[in-house]
Amino acid sequence: MDRGARRYLMLLAVLVGFLVMSDGKKSKSRFSNIKCETYNKTFADFETCKLKLLGRGIIGVQVHLKLYILPIDTVSANLSIWRRYNSFQPFLHNSTIDFCKFVKQTKKLSFERLVLDAISSRSNLNHSCPYTHDIIVDNLVFSDTFLQTLPLPQGEYKIQMLFATENIWRVRVDIFILRDE
Ligand SMILES: *[C@@H]1O[C@H](CO)[C@@H](O)[C@H](O)[C@H]1NC(C)=O
Ligand SMILES: *[C@@H]1O[C@H](CO)[C@@H](O)[C@H](O)[C@H]1NC(C)=O
Ligand SMILES: *[C@@H]1O[C@H](CO)[C@@H](O)[C@H](O)[C@H]1NC(C)=O
Ligand SMILES: *[C@@H]1O[C@H](CO)[C@@H](O)[C@H](O)[C@H]1NC(C)=O
Repeated sequence: MDRGARRYLMLLAVLVGFLVMSDGKKSKSRFSNIKCETYNKTFADFETCKLKLLGRGIIGVQVHLKLYILPIDTVSANLSIWRRYNSFQPFLHNSTIDFCKFVKQTKKLSFERLVLDAISSRSNLNHSCPYTHDIIVDNLVFSDTFLQTLPLPQGEYKIQMLFATENIWRVRVDIFILRDE
């Protein structure tokens, strides 16, 4: 395994470790909040942006983004992880990708792939551009029992996702994760 791959595996392990939604016994990580913001309500607006308790400590993300100007041919996504000290500080990862290219690429392991595949699998985003419809994410949960036991620092984390079309930032979604010791 080369260094890049190992680094991604580590990121993946760390991330999934944070996001494990278990029965609440072994892992105490959970989604704690979600915030959605649109920069231009003529272009897009959130009809739904919330967490929902799906059962036994399992929390799902639900998002419905209404898009008013279609079709959408270009999408950039910028992902970063933040950890809270007194305020949120950048942590581990920060990158911008061409989302339309990305969905067509082969499945190379990466942080973006992990996050965006997880989102895609629970949404209507899993097809190539253009997008001609609202974006709906339904009951997104992360789980992987194998990674539950990873020793991760307790704390509060935030995954920030910014999406642009035609090089204009349009919407922002912040997902907050709490990890107890
Ligand atoms: C909002 O988006 C619409 C449609 O793309 C555009 O016509 C308008 O100028 C934008 N408004 C601002 C303040 O950027
Ligand atoms: C992300 O990286 C860019 C440049 O690579 C930097 O300017 C920016 O402050 C970083 N943001 C975060 C949240 O790490
Ligand atoms: C991600 O977006 C933020 C906010 O626009 C920006 O500060 C940062 O530089 C971007 N990161 C990269 C790697 O482009
Ligand atoms: C996305 O769709 C492709 C083909 O339609 C499928 O092979 C792939 O597993 C899907 N990915 C996810 C994350 O659902």
